[in-house]
Amino acid sequence: MQAARTARTTSSRAVCLKHASSAHHPNSAARPHHRHAATTSSHTARNICSVVAKTRPAVSGLKCQAVAEGASGEKTTAGKAGVRHVIVTGCSSGLGLRAAADLSRKPNHHVIMACRDFSKAERVAKEMNMPAGSYTVMHLDLGSLTSVREFVDSYRSKGLPVDALVCNAAVYLPTNPEPSFTADGFESSVGINHLGHFLLCHLMRDDIAKSKDPRIIIVGSVTGNTNTLAGQVPPLADLGDLRGLSNGLSDYSNVMIDGGEYDGAKAYKDSKVCNMLTMREMHKRWHDQYGITFGSLYPGCVAETNLFREKRAWFRWLFPRFQKYVTKGYVSQQEAGERLAQVVSSPEAKKSGVYWSWNGEAKSFGEGSAGGSGGALFENEPSDEVTDDAKAEKLWAESLRLTGLA
Ligand SMILES: NC(=O)c1ccc[n+]([C@@H]2O[C@H](COP(=O)([O-])OP(=O)(O)OC[C@H]3O[C@@H](n4cnc5c(N)ncnc54)[C@H](OP(=O)(O)O)[C@@H]3O)[C@@H](O)[C@H]2O)c1
Repeated sequence: MQAARTARTTSSRAVCLKHASSAHHPNSAARPHHRHAATTSSHTARNICSVVAKTRPAVSGLKCQAVAEGASGEKTTAGKAGVRHVIVTGCSSGLGLRAAADLSRKPNHHVIMACRDFSKAERVAKEMNMPAGSYTVMHLDLGSLTSVREFVDSYRSKGLPVDALVCNAAVYLPTNPEPSFTADGFESSVGINHLGHFLLCHLMRDDIAKSKDPRIIIVGSVTGNTNTLAGQVPPLADLGDLRGLSNGLSDYSNVMIDGGEYDGAKAYKDSKVCNMLTMREMHKRWHDQYGITFGSLYPGCVAETNLFREKRAWFRWLFPRFQKYVTKGYVSQQEAGERLAQVVSSPEAKKSGVYWSWNGEAKSFGEGSAGGSGGALFENEPSDEVTDDAKAEKLWAESLRLTGLA
């Protein structure tokens, strides 16, 4: 690789370096050898590196680090005493973006937007009128364990504290006829939504524990809870005996956690079960020792986000209306973002180990009346699978192994 290239704009800095993509490659033995490998990472790297080198060809195998201060670097609240520093993953869109914007307007908050598409994150932050100096954009691609490690190194090198980590980013690939895989060779939905966040939580735990009000929030979903009406829509979430995960989640016969045939919608729901099991297991293992508050939530059916980008146009038109007028489970992106921000910083969400919901308009939308606009925060009851301690322990052990932590 030629020398590293550096480019500066008024508000951003990005550096691309070649790296050995298997340097932190816990799954290298089981890496898939087929045309879908690393689909996500090369796409993402293209987005990020376009900040620097618009003419660069295929960039799989590039390492990109990028940091940009919010609109005005000299006015930034980053690193200031008494300011609550909140990292939000995947906040270039949807409820993560609305939560980031809401938090950035609160007094004494600074948001770190940890996003895979650096320039998009900068652009949407400005479009949302996030106050100058109230946010920092940093590159994080959860589809690459190397990128997760680089994000943590880069964060530490900035010398910033961290009070809360919000694991929000996700992909939903219901129309994928064939699986796609992360840079490390894991099926994308579980690789990005669960394994990337699992590693991030582990690497940032000690930094977060230094805060006066430390919190780790992982966004869950009603669709992963089969004790709800929405969770009963096929295909149902089911991790089974985790044999696919134990076998590396990396080739066609082990592409689903339960070892079944590939189903993109189920892979997403399974990943949400993993998110909620992980939150509960972190609470069990770490809350007393580190004092961190762990939480998950169902923000409501945020039917207009890009999560449904893979769906056909008619579905994207009908779905919000159906949720608004039939199930009454609909929540606007703005309201969902405010809900997420509430769980990150408010005293009423300080209890650890809880799966939060709001009892809005959807009075019959599953147990606990979760979903819909309005209503008050309450502790929801997750499904039997999400409260299965033996499964949580097994998931923990396998995830440690796959992310190279054990
Ligand atoms: N929408 C709902 O009804 C609903 C309901 C329950 C729970 N949730 C949960 O809410 C969270 C946010 O979803 P959303 O509805 O707001 O969807 P969204 O608009 O699609 O937002 C997803 C975010 O994740 C980012 N992302 C995707 N892959 C990534 C990767 N490899 N590395 C880093 N970031 C990545 C996306 O980045 P780009 O902008 O670059 O694509 C985007 O910023 C998810 O955890 C989802 O499961 C949503």
